[in-house]
Amino acid sequence: MWPRNQVFQKRNRIFRKVQIDYCLTGLLLNGYKITIYTEMYITSNEFDIFLLPFVHIKHTIMAGNITFTMIKPDAVAQGFIGPILTKFNEGGYIVRAMKYTRLSQLQAEAFYAVHQGKPFFEGLVGFMSSGPIVACILEKENAVESFREFIGATDPAKAPEGSIRKLYGSSIQKNAVHGSDCDENAVIESNFFFSRFERF
Ligand code: CMP
Repeated sequence: MWPRNQVFQKRNRIFRKVQIDYCLTGLLLNGYKITIYTEMYITSNEFDIFLLPFVHIKHTIMAGNITFTMIKPDAVAQGFIGPILTKFNEGGYIVRAMKYTRLSQLQAEAFYAVHQGKPFFEGLVGFMSSGPIVACILEKENAVESFREFIGATDPAKAPEGSIRKLYGSSIQKNAVHGSDCDENAVIESNFFFSRFERF
């Protein structure tokens, strides 16, 4: 694609390409941004102007509406991926990205760097790199706060009946799922696992 306002020559005619972006304002509908724009090609010697209209539809994940989660190695090892994904679904969380992978020790250290120095840090890193996990970006209104309430307290013993951590977790460390603690960390953690080509 040519850069904006580029002048170029084709069949002995000089063209100036002007891209008029967002000439019709983008519309946000259920997270879908619809932009209609046009590219204008002007030939310098004939006052020839022609417009090529384009419609660009892009799904925009709005800040504050995503959270990051992992189904942890304990839950994966016990075969709880399916039931936990079903729970996400029932809770109204839409999966925008998902990956079945295993963290190396270095990756687990980096992911939980904020807890470095705490007494449980080494155990947490060892546990989180001990087996495969499922990483997901989930979307819902007020995702971070509502998801934390939805999965239950960090300690499964204190989580409400029927919550994911109560049903599938067994200790503070082996608490089945991770959930971002604020919008800023939801973005940082999502970027840790997913490129923009892996989000839908
Ligand atoms: P998570 O939501 O993944 O975020 C940080 C994790 O650290 C947390 O879940 C727990 O698994 C773990 N964690 C927090 N506090 C303790 C603790 N006191 N002892 C062991 N692990 C902990």
